[in-house]
Amino acid sequence: MCGIIGYIGKREASTLLLEGLKRLEYRGYDSAGMAVMDGKRLQVVKALGKVAYLEEKLEKSPIVGSAGIAHTRWATHGKPSEKNAHPHTNSKKDIAIVHNGIIENYGELREELKKRGVVFRSETDSEVIAHLISESITTGKSFEEAFKLVLKKLKGTYGIAAIRKSEPEKILIARMGSPLVIGIGKDEWFVASDVAPLLPHTRKVVYLDDGEYAVLTREGYTVHVGGKVSTKEVVDVEWSETEAKREGYPHFMLKEIYEQPHALQDALRGRLVVSEGTAKLGGLREVEKRLSGIKRIILVSCGTSYHASLVGEYMLEEFAGIPTEVEFASEFRYRKLIVDKYTAVIALSQSGETADTLAAIREAKRQGALVLGIVNTVGSTIARETHAGIYNHAGQEVSVASTKAFTSQLGVLALLTLFLGRKRGLSLTEGKKIAHALEELPKLMETVLTDGKNMKKLAKKFATKKNYLYLGRKYHFPIALEGALKIKEIAYVSAEGYATGEMKHGPIALIDKDSLSVVVVPEDSVYEKNLSGIEEIKARGGAVLAITTTGNTEVAKKADAVVYIPRTLELLTPILAIIPLQLFAYYASVELGYDVDKPRNLAKSVTVE
Ligand code: M6R
Repeated sequence: MCGIIGYIGKREASTLLLEGLKRLEYRGYDSAGMAVMDGKRLQVVKALGKVAYLEEKLEKSPIVGSAGIAHTRWATHGKPSEKNAHPHTNSKKDIAIVHNGIIENYGELREELKKRGVVFRSETDSEVIAHLISESITTGKSFEEAFKLVLKKLKGTYGIAAIRKSEPEKILIARMGSPLVIGIGKDEWFVASDVAPLLPHTRKVVYLDDGEYAVLTREGYTVHVGGKVSTKEVVDVEWSETEAKREGYPHFMLKEIYEQPHALQDALRGRLVVSEGTAKLGGLREVEKRLSGIKRIILVSCGTSYHASLVGEYMLEEFAGIPTEVEFASEFRYRKLIVDKYTAVIALSQSGETADTLAAIREAKRQGALVLGIVNTVGSTIARETHAGIYNHAGQEVSVASTKAFTSQLGVLALLTLFLGRKRGLSLTEGKKIAHALEELPKLMETVLTDGKNMKKLAKKFATKKNYLYLGRKYHFPIALEGALKIKEIAYVSAEGYATGEMKHGPIALIDKDSLSVVVVPEDSVYEKNLSGIEEIKARGGAVLAITTTGNTEVAKKADAVVYIPRTLELLTPILAIIPLQLFAYYASVELGYDVDKPRNLAKSVTVE
């Protein structure tokens, strides 16, 4: 949510910052801006809307200098506008800051500053930071001292980068709840809100932790915490640069949908032990003993990761025999938690930075639970704050609408089920069957993708429908939820996800000739029950698009359109069944003329509560 990039070195900063902003745009795209120093001036340029508009402005009036900071915004306080775009400056315009997060006490700070004569130019919570630093400098403090003092006054969350005209050799940065990472180049240093914009320049990064601040100069960087210099680990980032490029696809979402077989293979690589019907999970080694005594699992997550968790609940209960619950992280954090050392709280998060999920695991940890993560982003905050975990290895996901992260989460949950199940009564035969089917899955996903071209026609056919109802049972109830979320997010249609059996308790009232029901009805243990749902919809004049198993002839007689997916084990079928629904949402969005990768009001990682 909002993207920050900063640069100090020998190259032209504006070019690098602009390129960085383009790679960060998936985090927010309401407005963008940058501030660059050339030793004499602090030049600020801002534009409303996408980074492309900032680029146009910079082409007309270029700014020069080899140090600067830039920001792409997802509005929290104050509507998207040029004046609310970052960087924000102090009254003299010799200090500029960019900020991610929310300053909770900004109202109070703003009033105090106003009383002291400060005139605000924006409605943001962030602007106070620039004025407070400036005020502190006028009392005789150095830039760094002033920065530190201001951090003490701020309540809430922040990732901040600040520069000062008279100290063009320095960028100050600080983190509290909003991620920042330092990129180490050759005689040049970067700061960014995630690693994506750093990939073309370096793979060596240092993740800042909460409460730390750092000073970047042309000679290097120092990280400070509690009055001392902190020695931080330099981490090698695995993601390849091609992951941040569309590579001929019209949108990242489509590219990522097609990357799914590969992403699943990467999640399974080196972990699946087919001969023993189990999984080797190196990331859990340190907690293996404690895990064996676990009596209950709580999966916490948001959005698409929450839907993956719901599938995980079915898997873990059925095959590992462990009572499992799933909670929205945003609710879990405010409940009266009943957890103990025999409870494993597992956070699922693509970004590893979702504020609600992070808060939930912090609370669970505080109360003594074993806290694990299933996270895609290596080195992210959730990955670092959990006791142990498993990485998805799905590669960078750029599209706001999550796809490959979801199927790789399901793959990892299946691995975890094998790992825990085989220690708790899952037979070797059953374990081998699941492991073998998992191994085969990437190939089956390829088939679904090849057949998926049809979804374009179907999206065109049904794109004029007013209501969408997604239905499924058991393992495919979460798939119905996820299918509905996908189309809501990018095609802005009203879509409900429901368990088929619940339809008659209310949503059936929505069915008429303007509605489309997407029914996920593979030949699994609840096939017959699901089928009767289709009958009920047809009897009320609704259209049905069904997803069923290859070779089935019954569904086609009842539904208006059918999409086939290959047969696999019931617990793994969701990994295939979601693909046509992702494609359907994608093509519906394209058909309706929307910007698939930058859906309105959304941002890739939700780092505010
Ligand atoms: O990074 P996380 O998995 O923690 O993100 C959770 C949700 O914000 C995310 O899945 C969101 O719902 C996506 N936009 C769904 O496509």
